[in-house]
Amino acid sequence: MGVTTAHAQEMTDEAIKERIKPYGSLNVAGAQAADAGAAAARSGEDVYNGACVACHGSGVLGAPRVHNAEDWQPRLDERGLDGVWNNALNGLNAMPPRGTCGNCSDDEIKAAIEYMVEGI
Ligand code: HEC
Repeated sequence: MGVTTAHAQEMTDEAIKERIKPYGSLNVAGAQAADAGAAAARSGEDVYNGACVACHGSGVLGAPRVHNAEDWQPRLDERGLDGVWNNALNGLNAMPPRGTCGNCSDDEIKAAIEYMVEGI
């Protein structure tokens, strides 16, 4: 192998490394997220802060506000926790299915609801 060839090979390896770098990092991040999901479910508060606060913090589009009995009680009276949980999973009017948290488990969605209605 001549000097020129070796150099060309090196450049190519570098170029390939550069090119696959973003995908490599993404895969690592994805694997870590999957591990974290398998190891321990996120708390209701974590899910709420990550996916629900945008609407449920201030009542965007009429979303029942966090820790607000006036907003939540009529829904709980009518459907119970399981009923509102079911609507959260499937979506309800402007409420998107799973509150846009596509990788939340059913139980994580429930935990987020329990967090929102805690103490009302
Ligand atoms: C894009 C805004 C938005 C996001 C994000 C969002 N919600 Fe909602 N949510 C709404 C709106 C609007 C309603 C009221 C829907 C209605 O009654 O017409 C609602 C209603 C609900 C209800 C009550 C359902 C019922 O039967 O009365 C639950 C439970 C709920 N959301 C849970 C969640 C959870 C948990 C998350 C986060 C994982 C979340 N939402 C994220 C907008 C949102």
